[in-house]
Amino acid sequence: MLNSHTSQFLYDQVYDLIRAQIASGSLRPGDKLPSLRGFSRQLKVSIATIMQGYTNLEQEGFITARAQSGFFVSPSIDRSIALPSATSPKPVARDIQLSGVVRDLLKLSRTPGVVPLGLANPGGSLLPCRTLARIMHRVVTRSPLEAVEYAELSGHRELRHQIAYRSGMLGTAIDPDSIVITNGASEALALSLKSVTKPGDTIAVESPTYFLLLQLIEDLGLKAIEVPSNPTHGLDIDSLEDILEQFNVSCVMCVANFNNPYGSLLPDSQKQRLVNLVNSKGVRLIEDDIYGDLHFGEHRPLPLRSFDYQGNVVTCSSFSKTLAPGYRIGWIVAESDREEMLSRKHSVSLSTSSVGQMVVAEYLATAGYERHLRGLRRRLMQQVHKMRLKLGNHLPKGTRISQPQGGFVLWVELPRGVDALKVFSRCLENQVSVLPGTIFSPTWKFRNCLRVSCGHPWNESIDQAVKLLGRVTAAEQQTRGH
Ligand SMILES: Cc1ncc(COP(=O)(O)O)c(C=O)c1O
Repeated sequence: MLNSHTSQFLYDQVYDLIRAQIASGSLRPGDKLPSLRGFSRQLKVSIATIMQGYTNLEQEGFITARAQSGFFVSPSIDRSIALPSATSPKPVARDIQLSGVVRDLLKLSRTPGVVPLGLANPGGSLLPCRTLARIMHRVVTRSPLEAVEYAELSGHRELRHQIAYRSGMLGTAIDPDSIVITNGASEALALSLKSVTKPGDTIAVESPTYFLLLQLIEDLGLKAIEVPSNPTHGLDIDSLEDILEQFNVSCVMCVANFNNPYGSLLPDSQKQRLVNLVNSKGVRLIEDDIYGDLHFGEHRPLPLRSFDYQGNVVTCSSFSKTLAPGYRIGWIVAESDREEMLSRKHSVSLSTSSVGQMVVAEYLATAGYERHLRGLRRRLMQQVHKMRLKLGNHLPKGTRISQPQGGFVLWVELPRGVDALKVFSRCLENQVSVLPGTIFSPTWKFRNCLRVSCGHPWNESIDQAVKLLGRVTAAEQQTRGH
């Protein structure tokens, strides 16, 4: 039975019901869906409601309509698209030389007019731009002086309060005074890493890992050691334990909730193990929780800091994936290191934009953010599922694709031997950007992998871009004689 007491539309509940049955395998490719009339009687809703739910499922490729026969689960829903392989890098502490290349690749990916499957940005139409613009007008008119003055070094008080409040709702109380507002998660990560390490230290990272973390490690003269990881469950804690035995690691950096690019989610039991392990070894842990609010399941996964009673975990995050990447509002939660972070922030950027902080604080104080997040999660989940299906249809046999439970990037492992850097270049020549897997490793691994972003709503140019990606990959595969 559907729930008429929630804010979720009834047709969205119909959609979810069928999606859940497809995901669990109780509805298989080719199976017939209940008839419109029969299902409407069973669920006690109108035929139009069922029709709307089915239409949405059809538009996303989950079901197909057959004239005179009804709706069927798409035969192309291949629940058997294999997941990418788990990684097993050699445990070696290395210097990194990646920054220049990453900068060049990203610059190319940002070329105007390029179909944006490269950068991990949510499409602007998914963000509450108009509401934020209205709030900006209101706060600047109400407090013109505050808007032009430097904000407090640690950040706007009300914004820190709102962030602490949201964290409390997750069951982890934090003191607003342990928060430092930063220029995006990028500055949060940079300040954190600088504060807990010294040049020459070794940092353990997931494999693959977000390229900015590697760039930071390079810029600070640190070494990186890659830890084996799994596309579903993330960091392999047994391997990390061995590495911490063998190497003098000073810090672990981890995106436990929907790693970029793998999409993996570290289960709670492993989060607890990870925190216990680093605490027992006296190793610092920096978590990047930027995707935590973008979960597809019912519950928000907990940040690593929820498992830490020693104040050893430093949490970094931002509103870049959920609200406004251009506002550059991020934060650090760091109890014991707060003074160190503040002094570093003082010398690097003095403070974060006052106006952006005032707007976000005001927005968070309304019920609008939760409502927006609910809608955003739903749209992103649909976009990720659709992209996975389409990629599965257009990329050559043997391609493996991640199946993230949150966030909005897919990790695509092309058949062995296909050079993803060549695929990347051919795509760019045709105005389509994706990112090559090599930049997610200090050792240029993942030569046959791509990261594909699903942040933008599906449209004709994305549809064409995916087809092009399929053609380019097949051509590249042929030149390799596969
Ligand atoms: C894992 C991760 N951390 C940090 C960032 C950067 O965040 P911000 O734009 O807030 O600096 C990104 C952006 O792609 C990301 O994917």
